[in-house]
Amino acid sequence: MAAHKLTAIRVMPSKDSGRRQQQLLRLCSAFPPFLFACVALWFFAFLFHHSTRQLIQTSESVIVKQPSDQLKESGAHEDLGAFNLKQNSTPLEPERKDPTCDFSKGKWVRDRHRKPAYDESCGDIFKGWNCLRNNKSNAKDILAWRWQPLQCDMPQMNATLFLEFFKNKRIGFVGDSLNRNMYVSFVCSLKEASHKVRKWRPVGADKALTFLDYNLTVAYHRTNLLARYGQWKAKEAAGPLEKLGLLRGYRVDVDVPQSTWAEAPLFHDVLILNTGHWWWAPEKFDPVKTPMIFFEKGEPIIPTKPPEEGLDMVLKSMIAYVEQRMPAEGLMFLRMQSPRHFEGGDWNEGGSCHRSKPLTEEEAKTWFALSGKPGPNVEMSKANLHLEKAIQGTKFELLNISYLSSLRADAHPSLSAGKLHEDCMHWCLPGVTDIWNDMLVRRLLQLQQEASDNKI
Ligand SMILES: *[C@@H]1O[C@H](CO)[C@@H](O)[C@H](O)[C@H]1NC(C)=O
Ligand SMILES: *[C@@H]1O[C@H](CO)[C@@H](O)[C@H](O)[C@H]1NC(C)=O
Ligand SMILES: *[C@@H]1O[C@H](CO)[C@@H](O)[C@H](O)[C@H]1NC(C)=O
Ligand SMILES: *[C@@H]1O[C@H](CO)[C@@H](O)[C@H](O)[C@H]1NC(C)=O
Repeated sequence: MAAHKLTAIRVMPSKDSGRRQQQLLRLCSAFPPFLFACVALWFFAFLFHHSTRQLIQTSESVIVKQPSDQLKESGAHEDLGAFNLKQNSTPLEPERKDPTCDFSKGKWVRDRHRKPAYDESCGDIFKGWNCLRNNKSNAKDILAWRWQPLQCDMPQMNATLFLEFFKNKRIGFVGDSLNRNMYVSFVCSLKEASHKVRKWRPVGADKALTFLDYNLTVAYHRTNLLARYGQWKAKEAAGPLEKLGLLRGYRVDVDVPQSTWAEAPLFHDVLILNTGHWWWAPEKFDPVKTPMIFFEKGEPIIPTKPPEEGLDMVLKSMIAYVEQRMPAEGLMFLRMQSPRHFEGGDWNEGGSCHRSKPLTEEEAKTWFALSGKPGPNVEMSKANLHLEKAIQGTKFELLNISYLSSLRADAHPSLSAGKLHEDCMHWCLPGVTDIWNDMLVRRLLQLQQEASDNKI
């Protein structure tokens, strides 16, 4: 079984190098001054493509013949090591096997031939996010951009391959509506490969699909703060909060998960958590009229804490909660903050996002700089500081989708969501969260591979 997995993953680079040649050609035609260098480069890529194919085939046959416990000594790894080394020598080579390839940094490249993994007919897409159906003027254009990481390629997920490798597994997205956006993108992509599904709601999930041919379950658990919260009102004048003059607010139990996902760590094999937007939502958690009031072990924390300190406490205890309950081989991710793109005011102040193409790197810098003018979107950078800190020394991994998303001011539903205000926070589907899932899938396959290597 392990040997089978290895071959399937290793076969892919040869297909890819063909695509790389095409990319190279496209790049070359875009930059005539470099034509000569390009022709030379293309020639090498051509040679490499064919030698790689041979190499892959030999290592494949080695793997299939060898019993799995001899894999390490078989030379198959050394072959691939050499393969990676060669790849490093040209800028467009993917480092498929190299876990150090950083997908977070790169640029959006115009690609009119790019096809999204699914289309507007996916029934799981929430109405307001279906920009193609809702005739958003640039809905098709949003899809004609490919994420190009700096040192490697970011291929679209292969849903069939993923379903095969994650048979009998359970994957839970836990978080706010931006994680729901990611969940929808994920199940729409998988349904293209296998549409026999059962809809159900296991252990508090808001939605879930089981892909029956593979017994793979993907669920979404709705929770805004991760921690349990509810309205709080002053009762007895002698109470510790009442003595501080508090009349009403929201009680947030920093050490108690919301019931919608409390059982998720025992159920799922993979968890993708997020929280963020709600910690900077004064229209609900008004710092004066209805502040967040933090409780620990059932008692109010006195003196009271500002939301950002509450967020640290919540992240710390929710991460510990998950770690204590997930099985040893469980995979835990914290998704970094999804950027908003309101211009000219916040969502309730007439803010809009009428962009027709991605922001430049420079533009994004000014939009999201922590040191810059505090705008409606700076929460991304703020939230990320807390998330980064929270996973230090834990088994959680960050899904760093912030930068690539921060450039996509063009990819929100905007007015097409059909609301009174513009939606410059969620993402059109198909759209940007598809790339988040491509990243997630790459990482999951890699981790599964590592786990099976370690078992050998
Ligand atoms: C996330 O990715 C961006 C772009 O590569 C990078 O600048 C940032 O430091 C990364 N953050 C973390 C926590 O890895
Ligand atoms: C989008 O355009 C199509 C074709 O013009 C039309 O039939 C459909 O009603 C429009 N949808 C919305 C939500 O306006
Ligand atoms: C996806 O994976 C399946 C199963 O491994 C394979 O047969 C198929 O060719 C792959 N598709 C692409 C586009 O790579
Ligand atoms: C389906 O997968 C679950 C674990 O996710 C497992 O408990 C169950 O036995 C599997 N069912 C079948 C029919 O294999």
